[in-house]
Amino acid sequence: MSLLLLFSFFFTLLLNTPPSLSQQARSFTISDFPWRPTQNKLLVSENNVFAAGFKPTTSSPKRYVFSIWYHNIPGNYQTVVWSTNKNSPVTDGSSLVIGDNGVLRLIDSSGRNLLPWSSTEIKPNSTSLTLEDSGNLVYGDWQSFKYPTDTILPNPTVNGSNGTTLQSKNGKFMFVDRKSLVFGSSSYWSTDNAFIMLEPTGMVTKETGATLVSSDFGEQNKLRRLTLDDDGNLRIYSFDRVANESSVVWLAVQEMCTVHGACGDNTICMDDGSNSDISYCICPPGFKRNSSDRESYSCEMKTPWKNHGKTKFLRLDYVNFSGGSDQTDLIVENFSVCQSRCLANQNCKGFGFKYDGKGYCVLQIDRLAFGYWSPGTEAAFFLRVDDSETDESNFTGMTSLLETTCDVNISLPEPPDESNTTVRNIVIVCTLFAAELISGVVFFWGFLKKYIKYRDMARTFGLEFLPAGGPKRFTYAELKAATSDFSNPIGRGGFGDVYKGELTDHRVVAVKCLKKVTGGDGEFWAEVTIIARMHHLNLVRLWGFCAEKGQRILVYEYVPNGSLDKYLFHSSQAPSLDKQVEIDPRSTDVPKTILDWNIRYRIALGVARAIAYLHEECLEWVLHCDIKPENILLGDDFCPKISDFGLAKLRKKEDMVSMSMLRGTRGYMAPEWLKMDPITPKADVYSFGMVLLELVSGVRSFDMQGSFIESEDWYFPRWAFDKAFKEMKVEDILDQQIKHCFDNRLHFDLVDRMVKTAMWCLQDRPEVRPSMGKVAKMLEGTVEIIEPKKPTIFYLTDE
Ligand SMILES: *[C@@H]1O[C@H](CO)[C@@H](O)[C@H](O)[C@H]1NC(C)=O
Ligand SMILES: *[C@@H]1O[C@H](CO)[C@@H](O)[C@H](O)[C@H]1NC(C)=O
Ligand SMILES: *[C@@H]1O[C@H](CO)[C@@H](O)[C@H](O)[C@H]1NC(C)=O
Ligand SMILES: *[C@@H]1O[C@H](CO)[C@@H](O)[C@H](O)[C@H]1NC(C)=O
Ligand SMILES: *[C@@H]1O[C@H](CO)[C@@H](O)[C@H](O)[C@H]1NC(C)=O
Ligand SMILES: *[C@@H]1O[C@H](CO)[C@@H](O)[C@H](O)[C@H]1NC(C)=O
Ligand SMILES: *[C@@H]1O[C@H](CO)[C@@H](O)[C@H](O)[C@H]1NC(C)=O
Ligand SMILES: *[C@@H]1O[C@H](CO)[C@@H](O)[C@H](O)[C@H]1NC(C)=O
Ligand SMILES: *[C@@H]1O[C@H](CO)[C@@H](O)[C@H](O)[C@H]1NC(C)=O
Repeated sequence: MSLLLLFSFFFTLLLNTPPSLSQQARSFTISDFPWRPTQNKLLVSENNVFAAGFKPTTSSPKRYVFSIWYHNIPGNYQTVVWSTNKNSPVTDGSSLVIGDNGVLRLIDSSGRNLLPWSSTEIKPNSTSLTLEDSGNLVYGDWQSFKYPTDTILPNPTVNGSNGTTLQSKNGKFMFVDRKSLVFGSSSYWSTDNAFIMLEPTGMVTKETGATLVSSDFGEQNKLRRLTLDDDGNLRIYSFDRVANESSVVWLAVQEMCTVHGACGDNTICMDDGSNSDISYCICPPGFKRNSSDRESYSCEMKTPWKNHGKTKFLRLDYVNFSGGSDQTDLIVENFSVCQSRCLANQNCKGFGFKYDGKGYCVLQIDRLAFGYWSPGTEAAFFLRVDDSETDESNFTGMTSLLETTCDVNISLPEPPDESNTTVRNIVIVCTLFAAELISGVVFFWGFLKKYIKYRDMARTFGLEFLPAGGPKRFTYAELKAATSDFSNPIGRGGFGDVYKGELTDHRVVAVKCLKKVTGGDGEFWAEVTIIARMHHLNLVRLWGFCAEKGQRILVYEYVPNGSLDKYLFHSSQAPSLDKQVEIDPRSTDVPKTILDWNIRYRIALGVARAIAYLHEECLEWVLHCDIKPENILLGDDFCPKISDFGLAKLRKKEDMVSMSMLRGTRGYMAPEWLKMDPITPKADVYSFGMVLLELVSGVRSFDMQGSFIESEDWYFPRWAFDKAFKEMKVEDILDQQIKHCFDNRLHFDLVDRMVKTAMWCLQDRPEVRPSMGKVAKMLEGTVEIIEPKKPTIFYLTDE
């Protein structure tokens, strides 16, 4: 006990609160009352996680709010989870008392009762006030969990009354009936089924049995809370008691700018591209800051237009205004109809229009409220300004967005005409190649420069995080029609079969029917939402899903050029090291395009960046767990796109192992999978290393073993290491098909970096492998790569 006191004394000192020793107790009986703020008494839960008492307000230390907060929990230190008199802090003279009839009262110096709940409910059955381990303050029949303020704590026994409303600490936002997030009277987020409770596992149970899970669902040793924050977003926080870290594991609103009330009237809310949690307000062109509005950032027209005066429109790409009753939704024939509808209305401030041919047209009447910029809107807003206005719109990008998606043509050698490729043909191809290379290299540098420019631009505009307002839910019938009754299979994977289809809006899609997915609709929905939120140039875009009649279907963008393995491994036979490669025309149905070194390097870099994005830049860590050439699709111009990411979470680890074993992808699996060690992002790093080595060698790592190397303990990475760094014969590991095109001067640096990086990725011990972000930098050449160690022998011989 004295140790505890010392500890709390230490913390008290640290935090500069009144230095007097606080007196802590597990439960307060009648003799402990009246309880005054000046007494410095604390009610502490048995597990030492929560404390309750009079907490000085931050603005004035002489005023107190009766609250419950996290006690000695570093990441949450003193975070208040419940309070009674937040709006009327009390002074020294007040106290918490037990009245004559046993009723608990908080009286201020004038004797007024400040407890918000009705006194009849607090008829005690015993006279002790206790704080349970869950953070529930109990007095007889009464418990604080029935009256949450801005936070819901996990509790398996108390539902909290459904229908109660949470309110953010600053009072601006409400979670009304635990169903919809509301600012003033306008709702900006809602769910069909009200939240009932947060379970300790991180699952939220909702009405009608629906559920929602946090990204760390089921993990032990976590302290979770669901809080309506002052920025209007509803989040689940999870504090890891082992790692001593707090993180957000679920949030309601993905784009902070869609929270109403972030900015005032006539403003546009913008996301900070790299961190969508940070937003700021700006005035649209033709508008300036309204300096007489001191409460919020609002704007006013520079030149107000007069009734029947001449007006024109400024196009603001990706901007959306809303405001409920101020909007008129129309379906019109074309743009000019929408425009004239607005012109005809003297109160029309502008209109939103979509260029998708569907005639989406929304007139904004009287008010321009809750404006925000997001590529997810897929619409442009036409702002009505006076005809004399000279400002021009700098909200552009609807056209340049298309340019950011890998549109650089890199010329590829024509596939050889004859199926019987001869040495002569290869020579010809290589000669062509050399010619291509001269222009190719120039092109490639052009591309790199352009890419970097677009990347930076994309970052500024947040395009890499481009949120599309959640995935679309398709019906089974829609998908059946889109794929002509699943008649055009284009792939077969461990997660399920893939069919090509076309949506009614003519988008070509790949429809993946998942097999053996565990969990209910809620979990699936949660997972799909997370997957759909990931946007990266090098990730296959998820457009929607279907969860109907036990079906679990994902709808992806269609990537035309198929998967990397088809280009890399031309022959099912193992190549021998001293003969020309025979290309087998029957092995695949795609044209035999040989990927040159520059393209291979670009593929490696793209894949590394996408995995790094998954691991490091996404809110929830997403491990891919199944990186291999089959899951790397090639888009136009061979821009790589990773597929199947995020799906691993729908499966159990044991399933993953047996599944991968069956499919023979064991060669890509990190040692820890088979040792049943914990799986970390470093498992993906290992798989990527194997892919990198295959990009260089053009041969399946395990094919080589089986066919021409006899030794039992032969291990591809080790062999490659010896060749590259001991025998100094890098050329021995290069892809035989384009070895001839390897120009030491042009390619040595690229290939050397790929090989060295692969060696680092393939280290046996996960902690020795670099993070994926580092791997991308190693490939880029922005960090120095120190000489790798030899990958140690790890290989399980057949079972
Ligand atoms: C936990 O984190 C806090 C602050 O982040 C730090 O002061 C404390 O030393 C950490 N404790 C442990 C055991 O890591
Ligand atoms: C109060 O306590 C008595 C005796 O312990 C018990 O019989 C009674 O059911 C309790 N009342 C309530 C409302 O819990
Ligand atoms: C909590 O709610 C569920 C579902 O509405 C109900 O089955 C259960 O009995 C409730 N538990 C308590 C303690 O009220
Ligand atoms: C909870 O909500 C359900 C459905 O709206 C309602 O039937 C039930 O009475 C509510 N329970 C409480 C305790 O308010
Ligand atoms: C500017 O702000 C003030 C204070 O909120 C408001 O009364 C006024 O109408 C605003 N002006 C315009 C042009 O919107
Ligand atoms: C737009 O639609 C209207 C009504 O159908 C038609 O009269 C007009 O010519 C169309 N304008 C353009 C530019 O297509
Ligand atoms: C604009 O915002 C409103 C309200 O949030 C929303 O209903 C509407 O779909 C949005 N429009 C577009 C084009 O995204
Ligand atoms: C448009 O210009 C204004 C004023 O220079 C600036 O504040 C705003 O950020 C610009 N908007 C965009 C999308 O670049
Ligand atoms: C790429 O090639 C296609 C067809 O060959 C052509 O239409 C397009 O303009 C080219 N793009 C660039 C940027 O050269």
